Formats: sequence, structure tokens, C-alpha cells
Amino acid sequence: MKHIVSIDDLNKEEIFNLFKSAKRIQWAPWLVRNYLKHKILSNLFYEPSTRTSSSFAAAMYNLGGNVISINDVNYSSVAKGENLEDTIITMACYADIIVLRTKNIGDARRAAELNQCPIINAGDGSGEHPTQTLLDLYTIYLEKKTIEGLNITFAGDIRNSRTIHSLSKVLEKYNNTCNYCETYEDMIPYIKESDVLYMTRVQRERGSTGNYELTKDHVLHLNKNCIVLHPFPEERVAIDTSAQDVKKMIKEVDAFLAE
Ligand code: NCD
Repeated sequence: MKHIVSIDDLNKEEIFNLFKSAKRIQWAPWLVRNYLKHKILSNLFYEPSTRTSSSFAAAMYNLGGNVISINDVNYSSVAKGENLEDTIITMACYADIIVLRTKNIGDARRAAELNQCPIINAGDGSGEHPTQTLLDLYTIYLEKKTIEGLNITFAGDIRNSRTIHSLSKVLEKYNNTCNYCETYEDMIPYIKESDVLYMTRVQRERGSTGNYELTKDHVLHLNKNCIVLHPFPEERVAIDTSAQDVKKMIKEVDAFLAE
């Protein structure tokens, strides 16, 4: 049974096949309208989500399938003390696939090891977020025509960002230069030579503090071909409102995410 718990669960060929399918679906969505007819996906979320849960639901509906949403487990039997294993075994009776977001690293692997139905990890605490990485990689591929040999700067809450953990894993594997910056000063030496600047928010719910702001000054120093990605959400302090070009790019990424 195939699970996607870590980005390491997909090899390069599988990633490129997914890119090809995404392109085909973008060009001819009517061809896949019934592709998942009579199939059911369960969104099982122990942590908040807007984009991830909605994009899985929208994708499922666009492919002719159905969705059972438990977007807040506090309104499920979890609130009565049911453990992860029993919840997964139960939901696998109703669904063909489970998209799981949990609070703890390793939960998605535990769920996958039950082998009840395929599990997609939509974030396990500060562990990994492989499907956000697919979207980030696809965006980089569309913009840069490659996912190899690039200079990528990660800025933000590196320790707690599961999106950075998955994306950096795969980029490092494919011979990219990755720079990791926790502060404003850290970013300066890398910003000129970066092909991609990847920012994340402060994960206050995991005990982090501080701010990671992309100011007009940063933008002026960016390489003119550099793209800026952010998985969202952001607190609307991360990007200086005068950095309009960057804001526009981020909105485009946002729209893409919502698709
Ligand atoms: C991220 C997440 O939940 O890991 N958002 C997302 O899924 N697009 C990023 C975050 O919460 O900072």
C-alpha cells in the first residue's frame, strides 16, 4: 500500500510524473472530471488548516469524488478519548484514502503502519509536509524550468517549519545549494545570489517568538530573477506592504494553492 508520509517516499521519477499529471489537468480539466467517481477521501485534521484541507477537498470534487471532513477533531470521538489508531481504523471503513494532519512528529508514520488505507501526511507537528513540498517544487519547476542546481535561501522559523523540512530534504538531494537563515542579518549575504527565497512564519503555537520580515530593503537586494515563495499563512507583518512586487507574487502563489 502506497503512503506519502515523507517526501522521501517519492522518487524523482514519481515527482516528475506528478508534475506531468498536474500540467495535463491544468490544460484539460474536463478529461478527469470523473476520474475519482465513487471514491471517498477523508480529511482528518488535529491542527487548524485553511489551504491544505480545502485544496484536497476541491481536488477531490474536481475529480468527481467525495469528501468526509473532520476538520476539527474536537468535534469527533477524539474529544471522548479515542486514540489515533482507533480513529484511523474507523475512518478507513468509510474512506479510500486519509489526509492526516496531527500535532506530533511521527503520527503519520504510525497511522501508515496500520496499513488500513493510504495515508497522506498533511503535516505531523514540526515534522514534514510532503504535499506542500510537491506544490513548492512544482512552482519552482514552472518558474525556473528545473529543480536542480539552484541557490535556495530559507528564511524564518527553520526549526519548526515542516514545509521547510520536507522541501529542503528534496532540494538537497538534487544538488541545490540551500542556505538557512533565522534572522534578518543572516539573509543579507545570500539574498543577492538566491534563485528562490522561501519564507515561513513564526510558529507561535510551537513556542517560537520573533519576526521574520521581508522589507523593501531586502527586495532591493534580491537578484532580479529571484522568486519568493511562502506556504502561508502569514501574519501580514512578514512582508513590508511597500514591497508590492513581492506581494503580487505571493498572491499568485496563494491563488495557485487554492486551486
Ligand atoms: C503550513 C503548515 O500548516 O505547515 N501551511 C500550509 O499547509 N500551507 C505552514 C504554516 O503553518 O506555517
